[in-house]
Amino acid sequence: MGDEIVVAPGGPLRGELRVPGDKSISHRALICNALAEGEARIRGLLDSADCRSTMACLSQWGVEFEIDADNLLVRSPGQHSFHQAPGTLDCGNSGTSIRLLSGVAAGLPFRSQFDGDESLRSRPMRRVLDPLAAMGARVADSDTAPFWVDGSDGLHQGFNGNLAVASGQVKSCIVFAALRAEHPSRIVEPGPSRDHTERMLGAMGADIEVDGSCIRVRPGADLATSDVHVPGDISAAAFWMIAAALIPGSDIGLPNVGVNPTRSGVIDVLRSMGAVVELHNQRDVSGEPVADITVRGSQLYGTRIDGDLIVTALDELPALAVAAAFAEGVTEIHDAAELRVKESDRIETTSAMLTAMGVEVEEWPGGMRIVGGQPRGATVDSHGDHRLAMSAAVAALASDPESGPTTIRGASAVEISYPSFWSDLDRLRHDGR
Ligand code: S3P
Repeated sequence: MGDEIVVAPGGPLRGELRVPGDKSISHRALICNALAEGEARIRGLLDSADCRSTMACLSQWGVEFEIDADNLLVRSPGQHSFHQAPGTLDCGNSGTSIRLLSGVAAGLPFRSQFDGDESLRSRPMRRVLDPLAAMGARVADSDTAPFWVDGSDGLHQGFNGNLAVASGQVKSCIVFAALRAEHPSRIVEPGPSRDHTERMLGAMGADIEVDGSCIRVRPGADLATSDVHVPGDISAAAFWMIAAALIPGSDIGLPNVGVNPTRSGVIDVLRSMGAVVELHNQRDVSGEPVADITVRGSQLYGTRIDGDLIVTALDELPALAVAAAFAEGVTEIHDAAELRVKESDRIETTSAMLTAMGVEVEEWPGGMRIVGGQPRGATVDSHGDHRLAMSAAVAALASDPESGPTTIRGASAVEISYPSFWSDLDRLRHDGR
């Protein structure tokens, strides 16, 4: 595929689509099962560049993977038998890989060297290296990748304290280290970040207790491998939910999507804007809440997104900013400074995309103000950020038909989390293009 895609305005979106497996749960299904000795079957694993980064790193420590029909088999000697990686653990574009695996590395009796691509090299790593050092790991004195983590002195301290940011990655990193520490840990988070790690490790026999915003981990429990059925990714479904909500006459079904309350803020925000989003057949699969989602097109109105909604809708904020650009009235996003340290500075890149499409946007240090209207086709850039490329596609689809198509540069960024995004777009759009 060339790295530029042209998307014409169109729709409505109709039909049913199974979105790929949840990225966060896929990483954890790989990592948590690698910690235990034995074999596990993972069904519905996201096959994307980010998850391949995690698999490549775990392979270097001695974990084996095998594809068996619809499943991925993880075969591990258990973390106590990992050997030193022969090379650098290259995490590519994946913040989840580098931060979660750093926590694992802190419990291993040798040095692990981490690195990533240009985007990952620009992202803050003190937030994981400082707590690991406080627990007794030796770590590189570095703000960013490349860096190393060495657990050969042992982890003499548990982690006891408050996290500065509500972050599923930082919390999970510390939890993985806490499993190998000599003393219990108590981690308090400032907001409800995604809790997939706690759920999965609990099911595997870890001594982990969650009480509101406080997570207690007692080390030493034997972990047993656990088969996982990964639900569809709400962060992938969000693009279709938003596109369908925006385009009149749309009516789509998204079966088997994870609706964990630490991830489902996008549904709350869309409903507050007037969208018709329904959840059917709610159930639990592998310890995660799952539902079949339907969305119909309707008039949207501006809203305010702030507080805990930010962390539960974190990765969906660029796409929600697109929804705001088409809504009637003004939308304000506050408390979202974390967006500046994602795969791109998502406040800057989202504002630039919307501005190019004729939207009135004001950028703040921790958010933005978007005046709803009728965005028009333009040339926009993903800046190598998968969620920007997909948000741009939603904006292009819903844009003013008179204004022509949108050219999206850096379209191949979708490989990071949603390789079939462009073909799924063709399947859902019912305007014959
Ligand atoms: C993730 C946590 C979030 C999210 C990222 C995936 C995870 O990052 O943005 O896409 O799987 O734990 P932060 O922990 O940096 O907020």
